Amino acid sequence: MTITFVGHGYVGLVTASVFADLGNIVWVIGHTKEKIENLKKGILPIYEPGLEEIVKRNVKAKRLLFTLDYKKPIEGSSVVFIAVGTPSASSGEADLSTVFEVAKKIGENLTHYTVVITKSTVPVGTNKKVKDIISKVKSKKVNFDIASSPEFLREGQAISDTLHPDRIIIGAESKKAQDLLIELHRPIDGNVVKTNIETAEMIKYASNAFLATKISFANAIAFLSEATGANGPDVLKAVGLDKRVGQAFLDCGAGFGGSCFPKDVKALIVIARENGYDFTLLKDVESINEEARIRIVEKARKLLGGKVENKTIGILGLAFKPDTDDMRYAPSITIINKLQSMGAKIKAYDPIAITNARKLLKDVEFVQNAYAAAKDSDLLILVTEWNEFRQLDLKKMKNIMENPILLDGRNIYDPAEMRQMGFTYVGVGR
Ligand SMILES: NC(=O)c1ccc[n+]([C@@H]2O[C@H](COP(=O)([O-])OP(=O)(O)OC[C@H]3O[C@@H](n4cnc5c(N)ncnc54)[C@H](O)[C@@H]3O)[C@@H](O)[C@H]2O)c1
Repeated sequence: MTITFVGHGYVGLVTASVFADLGNIVWVIGHTKEKIENLKKGILPIYEPGLEEIVKRNVKAKRLLFTLDYKKPIEGSSVVFIAVGTPSASSGEADLSTVFEVAKKIGENLTHYTVVITKSTVPVGTNKKVKDIISKVKSKKVNFDIASSPEFLREGQAISDTLHPDRIIIGAESKKAQDLLIELHRPIDGNVVKTNIETAEMIKYASNAFLATKISFANAIAFLSEATGANGPDVLKAVGLDKRVGQAFLDCGAGFGGSCFPKDVKALIVIARENGYDFTLLKDVESINEEARIRIVEKARKLLGGKVENKTIGILGLAFKPDTDDMRYAPSITIINKLQSMGAKIKAYDPIAITNARKLLKDVEFVQNAYAAAKDSDLLILVTEWNEFRQLDLKKMKNIMENPILLDGRNIYDPAEMRQMGFTYVGVGR
């Protein structure tokens, strides 16, 4: 099949590349000349493990084609995906301006029956608006259908998530569109959920809000465990052993970040309000998440004897989670900004995200490895649990620190071992 993607971010580029690898001809439309020229050469605008190889392979095979132009791709495609960003607007609702702008351009270029399918996370009712926009601008004789197929890939394991998703949601308004999309997804190994467009749109928000709720619940148990002497991680591990609950997303730590959970929780609160429901549960999910970050700062202050001013604090990990360069709403940003406002000097290391972090963090000394972050530091805070931090030479770390104090924001080290080694060690919830 020949298909088109508009948007080449974490969702657009990964999904487009996987569909190309499965033998389809895939056009990818962008809006920045430099990025499109780079992509043609195999230079990617994002980091995702294994993606560069797939892009290069499919560019070489002429199955993956990058362009700024809408006309040629849409003329040849039976399915056009919208995979652009839907960030939070100032009042919390999803900013849909790019989705609508792109829908108009797609509509202006339709020449034959096409399914226009939204992969971006959009509030219920958005695809109906996309339909109206396209209907207004398209040529009268052309038919089209809209559909919604929200994406669930996780950055860091996006390729395997795309090939083996837990579910493929196909929200379509006609049997013809549904059949075409099922055919396109046939080589992908996942349960297909056929539904209407509104349900598909809501499934995405409900999923992300539920996962965010699990994380905030775990952090609330961590807060309470610290106050009572219970061991939070042990409590949550035992809770998660119940099959009805499951282990995933029950870790105590610095809270959730990234381009999805914070904005999707916010957007669902607004969707609820606009529909006459006060989603107080999700408001608490947000405030517990904020508190999880602030508690890391408070612990840092206490570990430094209440004096943060002029202290050097090393930060391990900046990305919102391991295996990505994505810094959007990363807990590290809140933690570093707060510590800086208290007078701390920050040295930070991340294996991949430093280039993006430089754009968001000021007056931070970015260093090339974990040891350089620890060297002469008064305190080391682990914020993102990259695998390489599990393999550190901790004796070496201890010896090069001014004071061997480690605040483990993700509970990756064993407290007893750390203390035996001579660290002052504090984790979360234990
Ligand atoms: N990142 C994730 O893990 C993830 C997972 C599931 C769903 N989503 C959702 O998918 C959508 C895309 O997310 P993302 O992380 O890929 O975003 P992103 O910011 O990485 O990518 C957005 C893309 O849109 C392109 N774009 C912006 N304006 C454009 C325009 N006017 N014309 C053409 N292209 C334009 C950008 O160049 C970029 O390639 C969002 O709605 C997000 O909520 C993201």
